[in-house]
Amino acid sequence: MIGRPRVHHRVTDSTNERARALAAEGAPHGTLVTADEQTAGRGRQGRTWVAPAGAALLMSLVLREPREALPLAAAVAVCEALPVEAEIKWPNDIWLHKAKLAGILVEGRPQEGWAVLGIGVNVHEAPPIEHVTSLEGVIGVEQLLARLVSALDPWLSRPLPEVLAAWRSRDALLGQPVRWENGSGKGAGIDEAGALLVDTDSGRVALQAGEVHLLR
Ligand code: BTN
Repeated sequence: MIGRPRVHHRVTDSTNERARALAAEGAPHGTLVTADEQTAGRGRQGRTWVAPAGAALLMSLVLREPREALPLAAAVAVCEALPVEAEIKWPNDIWLHKAKLAGILVEGRPQEGWAVLGIGVNVHEAPPIEHVTSLEGVIGVEQLLARLVSALDPWLSRPLPEVLAAWRSRDALLGQPVRWENGSGKGAGIDEAGALLVDTDSGRVALQAGEVHLLR
């Protein structure tokens, strides 16, 4: 079972940073780090993650021998744990009504056999950022944490076809007009490796990484 031992900080720099330090010191699989507030929360692509103090679920898990599809599986688990019907915006942002509700940041040292799975969910209040939303307190942070740990446990080892099917059923970009640094087109799902497929005027392309924006 994941989620034990648990280290809780009232304030810390980043739960991912704390979990990385614990992992490097040999913390066991499933070690959980949580915080009420982060002073240097990290997001994907070198961005920061901000959340008002006490308003978000901020958690990081140390995982030993992490699965390859960890970011996809984690996104599915977050959706399953939420008390609302959310969608996944490739690769693993969680959206509610086309606004970002939760984010996932996987960091690690695969060569050393560990990863840190960091998840932030805006529970009570969202930071004042465009296209960001919250659950407006329909559930408590601790209650959501318990649901999320229970949902993550099986999804961390379910077979890839099940992960892909569950992910695809929540694909926020499917059939939607999207643009990225080098082009634009219409979302056409994900391939077996989790790359985003986009239909463009010159054919189908597969995007491996980077940022894709919905044309609103
Ligand atoms: C993203 O959407 O860019 C990923 C955001 C991940 C934020 C969470 S909050 C808990 C954990 N600690 C961090 O510093 N980042 C992740």
